[in-house]
Amino acid sequence: MDEDLGILKSGKEADVHVIRRWVPGSDPGVRMAAKRFRDSDHRMFHRDAGYLEGRRVRRSRETRAMTRRTQFGRELISGQWAFAEFNALAELWELGLPVPYPVQINGTEVLMEFIGDQDGAGAAAPRLAQTRPEPALLIDLFEQFRSTVSALALRGWAHGDLSPYNTLLHNDRLVIIDWPQIVDIIGNPAGPEFLQRDCHNMCSWFTARGLSVDEEELFGDFMAAAVSRW
Ligand SMILES: Nc1ncnc2c1ncn2[C@@H]1O[C@H](COP(=O)(O)OP(=O)(O)OP(=O)(O)O)[C@@H](O)[C@H]1O
Ligand SMILES: [Mg+2]
Repeated sequence: MDEDLGILKSGKEADVHVIRRWVPGSDPGVRMAAKRFRDSDHRMFHRDAGYLEGRRVRRSRETRAMTRRTQFGRELISGQWAFAEFNALAELWELGLPVPYPVQINGTEVLMEFIGDQDGAGAAAPRLAQTRPEPALLIDLFEQFRSTVSALALRGWAHGDLSPYNTLLHNDRLVIIDWPQIVDIIGNPAGPEFLQRDCHNMCSWFTARGLSVDEEELFGDFMAAAVSRW
């Protein structure tokens, strides 16, 4: 059985609901997060233009509907974002990276692991931006960030919208969310710029919290990882 426990957060592109799933007559079950991509949004079309560059798209009835932004076309676009996020989560999870476990996809909804408490009030993990870790943890978190983005770059990818808002902090571990726009660093002409912005957004936060980090050097290491596979 699934029960919708209500909206956790309403974002610019999607609404995230908390879902409880359980077997009738047994334990209390598990909490999950359902991300439902909304229909039609200008920011989405902007993102389509920049992020999808370098991805191959076949001309078809579907493509034309999306270009003309008919109702059908808009639903297809929302579905594509959901599909892109689900696929990204599945691949990243396989690589052992800290992302929510992808449970299932249904049209424009991605069901994934809920990052937060499973018992009691079931509080969701805070976004990194809202936290003030003490110095030892801050160093540890920076290392988690560095090794995650590095592993991602080694695989040829950048998050593309990485920030302390798309990073959750749960039990002293970072979990990175919001992946539908995942970027191919080499295949996308703007790939290195996305990677640099990701690096900058995160480094600015660490710097503001009092950790001195060399953003340029870090970006250089990430780029070196990205090109090392060629
Ligand atoms: N798996 C999850 N577990 C717990 N909380 C989550 C999860 N996924 C998303 N959230 C919460 O919902 C918010 C919105 O999710 P997400 O960033 O994926 O959607 P979005 O539409 O891109 O939102 P925004 O426009 O605010 O970035 C997150 O900032 C986080 O607080
Ligand atoms: Mg987000």
